[in-house]
Amino acid sequence: MKFQIISAVSLLLSSVTAAPPPALRTFDVMALHSASPIHFAQMSAARSGLFLNLPQQNATCKGESSGHATFYIANEELVLYSCEGEKQKVFVDRSGMGQGIVGYITGSQSLPRYGESKGWRVDKDKNLFFKDAGLIACPHSIDGSWRIWLGLGFTAPGGNKDCLGMSARTLDNKTPISCHYT
Ligand SMILES: *[C@@H]1O[C@H](CO)[C@@H](O)[C@H](O)[C@H]1NC(C)=O
Repeated sequence: MKFQIISAVSLLLSSVTAAPPPALRTFDVMALHSASPIHFAQMSAARSGLFLNLPQQNATCKGESSGHATFYIANEELVLYSCEGEKQKVFVDRSGMGQGIVGYITGSQSLPRYGESKGWRVDKDKNLFFKDAGLIACPHSIDGSWRIWLGLGFTAPGGNKDCLGMSARTLDNKTPISCHYT
């Protein structure tokens, strides 16, 4: 009897370890900053950057895309969702030169000198952070959009004025569309 229980348990354990990893959580990101032009703005990805209120991101998608970006986090890396082709990974540069610039690289492109891709996480309120830093958005970018930067406390990161802090709320996207971003 005892032996049967033990073998049943070990069978259970081996079937658990043999199971495929749980599906990754795919999500879109929405900015929250009440009474501002970026409140409820969805995050897009284009031209190696992340933006809010971008009219068209011009990604190449398999199917009808929302026009916004979809991400997942694996191994602390923030990756743009795509089922095939080259991976597009988001990086930050927290150096004095980078001042918190956020961008993404495609495939085998190397990170900028002080670029880091590992450290992304979602907190208990489902907000996106890189280590302890949240995201901010700076106006007057491509096609009237706001560009996403990491909030490191610079008053004008990269010379950009009037940046706004925000909560970068991740929203489940259970039917993600695979895209390759420009
Ligand atoms: C997307 O394409 C349109 C039309 O060519 C262009 O005006 C716009 O600037 C493009 N957007 C980006 C983010 O490149």
